[in-house]
Amino acid sequence: MTIATLTDLRQKRIGNQPEAVAKPRHVAIIMDGNGRWARARGLPRARGHHAGADNLRRVLRACSDRGIEFVTLFAFSTENWRRPRREVRLIMDLLEIVIDRELEELVAEGVQIRHIGRLDGLAPYLQDKIRLAIHRTQHNQSLIVNLAFNYGGRDEITQAIRQIIHDRIPADAIDENLIRSYLFTQEQPDPDLIIRTSGELRVSNFLIWQGAYAEFYVTDTFWPDFDEAELQLALDSYARRKRRYGQTDEQCVTDSRNPSLRQNGNRHQVARANGQRDAQSTQNRRVRG
Ligand code: FPP
Repeated sequence: MTIATLTDLRQKRIGNQPEAVAKPRHVAIIMDGNGRWARARGLPRARGHHAGADNLRRVLRACSDRGIEFVTLFAFSTENWRRPRREVRLIMDLLEIVIDRELEELVAEGVQIRHIGRLDGLAPYLQDKIRLAIHRTQHNQSLIVNLAFNYGGRDEITQAIRQIIHDRIPADAIDENLIRSYLFTQEQPDPDLIIRTSGELRVSNFLIWQGAYAEFYVTDTFWPDFDEAELQLALDSYARRKRRYGQTDEQCVTDSRNPSLRQNGNRHQVARANGQRDAQSTQNRRVRG
């Protein structure tokens, strides 16, 4: 297939707003490729991070427009401390700039900011800034945004285990629901879709508990270029997936206990399941009658 045909196909899909089949409630994004975006333009890495920060607004708006309820953004990992000090400092400062610049609009747009990760590992000025954003947006409901900043999945699980022991929870009371309640994300639904930009095929210690059954979508596009059309491609791809949760293909279509039929409002699958049941009962009636 030529590039032109591929582009046509892509634009057709984007332009025609595909029907909402299965819509993820929770989308998590590994925002990667700021450095490569800058290098491709002969710019310093800092410019890539600034461009990445500028991109947050349009992607969050696009998510909100599509009725996505939760977005988790991986902005700084527990491993990112290993980067050069200047770059770490830059990303910290950038978060402060983003909060200062965007907070009023986030409040007005009904976006609720939450933080996942180790707040206490950050400089006091940044902790205060994040707490302010959380406080000012706490009653908002239109979109919940988890800012994963100084976040690591293994660290999250380690913290949870420590706290469970600290709370003297007896061993036989520990189950998956209990562990979930000790994670940073607590009662939130698990991510349905994890998007990674800039082509790397790694999980990078992101939501390793919560993402156990997430669908993955990787694009070669660098984060600063990941726009509304790119988001739609990811959502289209998600809509075509069949989430099996360990079951067989046949069970997925017919078993209403399948969480993908219940949680995701996958109307196509439900319709298909109902259609099959209807066809089956018609068939049975014919045989009987
Ligand atoms: C990955 O690109 C990006 C980061 C580790 C920093 C994330 C920051 C942003 C997306 C900007 C938004 C910022 C805040 C503070 C909310 P990379 O540097 O790993 O790119 P590369 O792999 O091409 O070098």
